[in-house]
Amino acid sequence: MTFRARHLLGIDHLAPDEILSVLDLADRYVALNRRTVKQSDALAGMTQINMFFENSTRTQSSFEIAGKRLGADVMNMNVASSSVKKGETLIDTAMTLNAMHPDLLVVRHNASGAVNLLASKVNCAVLNAGDGRHEHPTQALLDALTIRRAKGRIRGLTVAICGDIAHSRVARSNIMLLGKMENTVRLIGPPTLMPAQFGEFGCELYEDMREGLKGADVVMMLRLQKERMDGGFIPSEREYFHRYGLDAEKLAIAAPDAIVMHPGPMNRGVEIDGTIADDINRSVIQEQVEMGVAVRMACMDLLARNLRTERGRAAAGVMA
Ligand code: CP
Repeated sequence: MTFRARHLLGIDHLAPDEILSVLDLADRYVALNRRTVKQSDALAGMTQINMFFENSTRTQSSFEIAGKRLGADVMNMNVASSSVKKGETLIDTAMTLNAMHPDLLVVRHNASGAVNLLASKVNCAVLNAGDGRHEHPTQALLDALTIRRAKGRIRGLTVAICGDIAHSRVARSNIMLLGKMENTVRLIGPPTLMPAQFGEFGCELYEDMREGLKGADVVMMLRLQKERMDGGFIPSEREYFHRYGLDAEKLAIAAPDAIVMHPGPMNRGVEIDGTIADDINRSVIQEQVEMGVAVRMACMDLLARNLRTERGRAAAGVMA
């Protein structure tokens, strides 16, 4: 297993061999998670703290399940009833928890870069569970695992990412991962939701969804992130669905065996037709959720190995 990172802050700092190490180990955890007894001792004796400053269903619950299955003591900080509400800053909150000697800190925050800043202040491993519009690395890794298991490879595919690209950390992390693994990435969306600089990442940009979907192996739909919009980005949800919502007619333009993905939560009838989302022959949305637990187990396992090595070296240095 090759995984050099001390923290998992983004896909940006991962090399292709590190990405493959996560996917290979996650495959093993998928098998463990399908057994009746799902216990491992990879994080035995370690403490994991989850700090979610933004709402979450999938990411928070899967990190909690992942830590527990690996034998860690898991604490979910309740931000709503914490001293953050009395004005304590993110860094002071993190430093306070750091003094309790956690080994893994899982953080979601609405400010891009907040998790990187926090990682520079603590001496445990930090995992980015989504920071503003910046990165959502475990989502991209679970998406890659889902694609690899469905298509048999994570290289040389054409992946169409559709919708609200501008506000999406999921899109940014996926663009980086899929690019590093030598896939063709097409971005589809209205100009108001499509930052021009994404062309610099080597992506093909499409305003016409039908053009962008032609022959795609993977169709990845994105949620309209209304909470990050401070103006009129779309004429109406009805018009948006007409032009950019995935329905059977548009999906027929993609490759005949194209898979449909969505990171969740979904706005049914806005970016995706409910029938397509629920079609088990095309949609892998539930598989994405399953892979989320396995990928998070793999990421925490690999970071914990590096942490033990680092601490072992530090202890040996003290002895010498
Ligand atoms: N995909 C994702 O991050 O979902 P949650 O917001 O529910 O964690």
